[in-house]
Amino acid sequence: MDGELCTTLPANVTANSGLDALTHSVEAYVSNIDDNYADAFAKGSVSLVFNNLENAYNNPENVDLRQNMHDASFLGGYAFANSWLGIAHSLAHQVGGMFGVAHGRANAIVLPNVIRFNSKSSDRYSDLAKLIGKETAEDFAFEIEALRDRVNVPASFKECNISEQEWNDKVKVMAQNAFDDVCTSFNPRVPTVEEMEKIFTACYNGTKVSF
Ligand SMILES: [Fe+2]
Repeated sequence: MDGELCTTLPANVTANSGLDALTHSVEAYVSNIDDNYADAFAKGSVSLVFNNLENAYNNPENVDLRQNMHDASFLGGYAFANSWLGIAHSLAHQVGGMFGVAHGRANAIVLPNVIRFNSKSSDRYSDLAKLIGKETAEDFAFEIEALRDRVNVPASFKECNISEQEWNDKVKVMAQNAFDDVCTSFNPRVPTVEEMEKIFTACYNGTKVSF
């Protein structure tokens, strides 16, 4: 786990992969598999991402910052190897496959709305909000959006230059495929195919999920 290996990582890859690590940790923490080891690693990873990603993005040759993000990535990977993921990954897999959006970038776009959707069934996001000095699931979703902005990751799929026509042509197939993704079975809230489509639509337009 040598952070120096990452010092030449391009800025957009630093941002996308760092936010993928965050998504691994958040999804593993709230998944329907309870695992104390995964929880500890996930929390450690979330703190490291919030404390280091923006700085690593802006100071690419700082080995300490790179090491911290490398460690955050490993800890998140450990967490989801034990506790699996959730529908942020189910949704992101589709947008990656259909439109070539980088995996971490797609996760970063869907994660805040997935938190809003899941928070109706899980109270565990407040544990993660407290790690960064906040209280609620909505606070946590907002802080992820703010971090995403600071590392120049778009807030919607529309901003990824996907045409509305092409999106609308594929969204029903993507919703069904996302529903069938293995990650969906570990999500804390059981979605319907229709709800998957609605989350997709909100993430395309950059609006907030409120159901
Ligand atoms: Fe991932």
